[in-house]
Amino acid sequence: MKKVTEANLKNKIVILRADFNVPIDSRGHIIDDMRIKAALPTIKYILNSKIKKLYIISHLGEPIVRPRTDIKSIISGNKNLVLEPVVKSLAKWLKIKIKNIKFSDIKDSPLPGYILSNKITLLENVRFLYGEKKNDEDVAEKLASLGEVYIDNAFGVLHRKHASVCAITKFLPSYYGLLIEKELKTLENLSKNPSHPFVMILGGAKIKDKMKMIKKLVKKVDYFLLGGVMANTFLATRNIDVKKSIVEKDCLDLAKDLMNKAAKKIILPIDLVWNKGKIVDIGNGTVRQSSRYIGKAKLIFLNGTMGLTSLNKYCKGTREILKLVAANKKAKSVISGGDTIAQIDKNKLASKFSFISTGGGASLNFLAGEKLPGLEALNSSDEE
Ligand code: 3PG
Repeated sequence: MKKVTEANLKNKIVILRADFNVPIDSRGHIIDDMRIKAALPTIKYILNSKIKKLYIISHLGEPIVRPRTDIKSIISGNKNLVLEPVVKSLAKWLKIKIKNIKFSDIKDSPLPGYILSNKITLLENVRFLYGEKKNDEDVAEKLASLGEVYIDNAFGVLHRKHASVCAITKFLPSYYGLLIEKELKTLENLSKNPSHPFVMILGGAKIKDKMKMIKKLVKKVDYFLLGGVMANTFLATRNIDVKKSIVEKDCLDLAKDLMNKAAKKIILPIDLVWNKGKIVDIGNGTVRQSSRYIGKAKLIFLNGTMGLTSLNKYCKGTREILKLVAANKKAKSVISGGDTIAQIDKNKLASKFSFISTGGGASLNFLAGEKLPGLEALNSSDEE
């Protein structure tokens, strides 16, 4: 696996895979731009390398993509997932003045793009392409045909076997960016010989992925403190009436199995905040219960929020848990998840943690010792 600093980029057209999957509110404003800021050192390195042109690829959320639909209809059916808000933030950080954002078709490109300058173009959400999530080689080849060198800086997507992450490395000399280097080094140091008690706090969505990781990590981790949508499915297995709250039905058996095997390790909320029949936050009793585990921990990994943090009144549980983690000065702490990081910024807690990771699922998979397809692809591209 080769680092971007080993690449000869002079006069080359470079393709950069970034993870700009940032939380965006209903008015189209970015709630937290940490992932964009974290990509800047690599972007600046590339721009300072006398390149000819830079195409940046990213995904945003989970668009509805129907096969055989042309890209324009997909874009108009997924207006909330276009990368326009990212363009504004990226331009600001790169000190590029844009009056009107230019969005246009790009010759031979499967995706239209936003022209930030004569050197930089950000392609529209790559998950609008049918085949991206299937790691389709045709899609990868089309994307690769835009450039001469591929650089992967999207740490947050390394656990996904997608065309712009994996298959694309078959078509171009491929390198990893500075963000991937930083994330891997830090997470490796923190997790190689994990200090105990190792407490993992999991909230937010993407329940299925996280549950699978609990299964893998159950031997390594001493306690899992669950909140947010994550906890609902587990609560449902205990015959607790979660009313209209989201429950991942496919995962009920796995949750039951985990509760049977590791009930002492899986700590569920003991009180909840409700709104219109839905769980929207953890209660004060749960925060007190969590403080007993967090206070004694030596290593803490937190991913995802405890409640519906898009509404201020339901941020309390997440904020209190973050404060507890920040207060434990003896523990090393890793925090991840866009909405969680937004809460860290809001409460000015960023300096209190050992590391804020740009990867959610990617860091969980890494900690669980899983092979990351994105890294495997970079490795095998060296052998070809
Ligand atoms: C993330 O948010 O963890 C990454 O951007 C990957 O997104 P995904 O879970 O939608 O693949």
